[in-house]
Amino acid sequence: QFHPTISRESLQDKVIVLTGGAHGIGKSLVELCTQHGAYVCFGDIDEKAGRGVEESANASQKSSPPTARFVPVDVTNYQSVLSLFKTALSLYGRIDHVVANAGIVERGNWFDPALTVESVEEQPTTKVLDVNLLGCLYTARIASVYLRQNRREGQDRSLTLVSSVAGFKESPGLFVYQASKHGVLGLMRSLRKYITFPTTHNIRVNAICPWMTETAMVAGIEDGWRKAQLPINQPLDVAKVITGVLAAEGQEERVSGMAMYVEGGRAW
Ligand code: NAI
Repeated sequence: QFHPTISRESLQDKVIVLTGGAHGIGKSLVELCTQHGAYVCFGDIDEKAGRGVEESANASQKSSPPTARFVPVDVTNYQSVLSLFKTALSLYGRIDHVVANAGIVERGNWFDPALTVESVEEQPTTKVLDVNLLGCLYTARIASVYLRQNRREGQDRSLTLVSSVAGFKESPGLFVYQASKHGVLGLMRSLRKYITFPTTHNIRVNAICPWMTETAMVAGIEDGWRKAQLPINQPLDVAKVITGVLAAEGQEERVSGMAMYVEGGRAW
């Protein structure tokens, strides 16, 4: 397992934008990054929970601008994602690292063996593709512009996409989720090569593929299947790996482990 220890200073005063920060992995990431002295501007569709995370992250800090800022965001809406980046830029003046983390999983089996010709109908699972893949694409597209803008000598910048073990391995029953997460890994591979085209900007682009992690997302998953996925990560485990990737200045990442897989490198 890739568990980098990062020094307290490595994220100090960095400006981090992330999606899906109200719960689970994203929430742990907001907490961890602010504890390491970073400024975090995060979006989520769950406004109430997002405001709660913002409040507790700012509770022990007395800073202006605030250490954490929540923006209500639906990642399936381009303008909404744009507003997150605009808020971050106007509050903090630049953006150093971006994490596309928001995601959902489908309930119900798209290829249900009980389906008959008569019962075949469109199911509302396109939402999964919209949030996981389109949301990631919107975030990455806007991030590429804002990160390129932050071009100072020696400035380290990165974009991290949260894929999943389902991004490169089969996950029976979760067909749409699986397709979306494969898409996220593929998106990262292309971005890594072309995000800065045609000039060199030296932005690190990574995807992180956690194994099953104890969050609300997996709460509905059948118990027997869950138990077969041991070891189950805790959200903080995944957040630690992500902060390690954010702080790993100048490092090419291709790390494989029992409960996490990270792939990426430097965009040229
Ligand atoms: P979670 O359900 O605890 O958190 C997901 C967050 O995304 C929530 O705060 C939710 O409100 C937000 N969200 C959902 N739809 C949104 C939208 N349209 N716009 C903005 N925000 C939205 O789940 P978890 O586990 O923390 O998931 C985070 C990421 O990690 C996801 O991309 C997920 O696919 C990925 N992942 C999770 C694993 C797990 O076993 N929990 C394993 C591998 C990857």
